Amino acid sequence: MTQIKLIDINKRFGATHVVKHLNLDIADREFLVLLGPSGCGKTTTMRMIAGLEQPTDGDILFDGARINDVPTQLRDVAMVFQNYGLYPHMNAFDNIAYPLKLQNVNPSAREERVHKAASRVGLMSYLHRMPKELSGGQRQRVALARAIVRNPRVFLMDEPLSNLDAKLRVTARAEIKNLSEELGVTTIYVTHDQVEAMTLAHRVAVMNDGVIQQLGTPDEIYGDPANVFVAGFIGSPSMNLIPVKSDGSDVHWPGVSRVKVRAPRTGALVMGIRAEDVVLARPGQAHFSAEVFTFELLGDASLVNIKLADQVFSIKVSKDVRLARGDLVDVHLPQDRLYWFDADSGERVRG
Ligand SMILES: Nc1ncnc2c1ncn2[C@@H]1O[C@H](COP(=O)(O)OP(=O)(O)OP(=O)(O)O)[C@@H](O)[C@H]1O
Ligand SMILES: [Mg+2]
Repeated sequence: MTQIKLIDINKRFGATHVVKHLNLDIADREFLVLLGPSGCGKTTTMRMIAGLEQPTDGDILFDGARINDVPTQLRDVAMVFQNYGLYPHMNAFDNIAYPLKLQNVNPSAREERVHKAASRVGLMSYLHRMPKELSGGQRQRVALARAIVRNPRVFLMDEPLSNLDAKLRVTARAEIKNLSEELGVTTIYVTHDQVEAMTLAHRVAVMNDGVIQQLGTPDEIYGDPANVFVAGFIGSPSMNLIPVKSDGSDVHWPGVSRVKVRAPRTGALVMGIRAEDVVLARPGQAHFSAEVFTFELLGDASLVNIKLADQVFSIKVSKDVRLARGDLVDVHLPQDRLYWFDADSGERVRG
């Protein structure tokens, strides 16, 4: 049972304000992902929750009790770091057993718990190996086992999969997801990889420049982005975002001239549409025509990129479509798939 509350947290390193007025409520047993670009303040936030860093101001609560002044070792949080932080001179067993040793758990109970944690992550046959004799994926599992062996109140994971190759990341991701569901421990997971965030999280906090941009379920941040930053950050390829001017009846799109779509208000706006929502249409139904700039096979689908006023615009098409550079395509923008943002603030403008 651990519910975490961050109340108006600020963190400054000298003159640099790296975490700004951060408020976050994390439910018991929730899997919350902190997602954002490099340098946005994810690790700093995590380190404050762990007690490795003090907030400049603001409160951190575990189950309603303020823990700002509680030292790391008494917060009962288990951390998994990007580089795993294994002790190189200890074999896998001793690495996993180490937190129990610190807690003075007796040797036979220690062995039982290490075996239980190790079998959970499929490490039983590697316990005698030294870290240097293990693959990246196996080391990562040692780090996970060392975290789960303690039955902590909270898991803090900081990009734990970033050293693994693409294929291993997918398996390890599935392992972490199952593990956290089985153990039911409140988890905060840091990543800059949006696929990881979308697949793992109950809720995602999208962060940029020290500020939470949006907090929501994966569905919400993908389908209902709060601002241009979230719209452009989530999704691959990124949402097409076009600066336009609306005069009430249609919009003026530089490089395309006018398109007959309805904007929620007049003036300068950013119009957004995801590549998979754009439709290749028959000429009569098209909003505009353009030449193919590049055509990319993705395997399960293909990507048609057109270039309009120096901006690349992507259209996802079914894997059967074949096009080549220079081909003319007719493009339809379904009205109900358009997103609108204020051109100055970047905030979502709803229709
Ligand atoms: N001890 C420190 N002293 C001064 N500045 C720091 C310190 N630690 C972090 N920073 C700065 O704070 C900002 C946030 O750093 P942080 O490590 O939290 O980013 P991050 O979101 O985890 O990035 P990444 O994805 O690259 O790990 C960065 O600009 C960083 O340079
Ligand atoms: Mg970091």
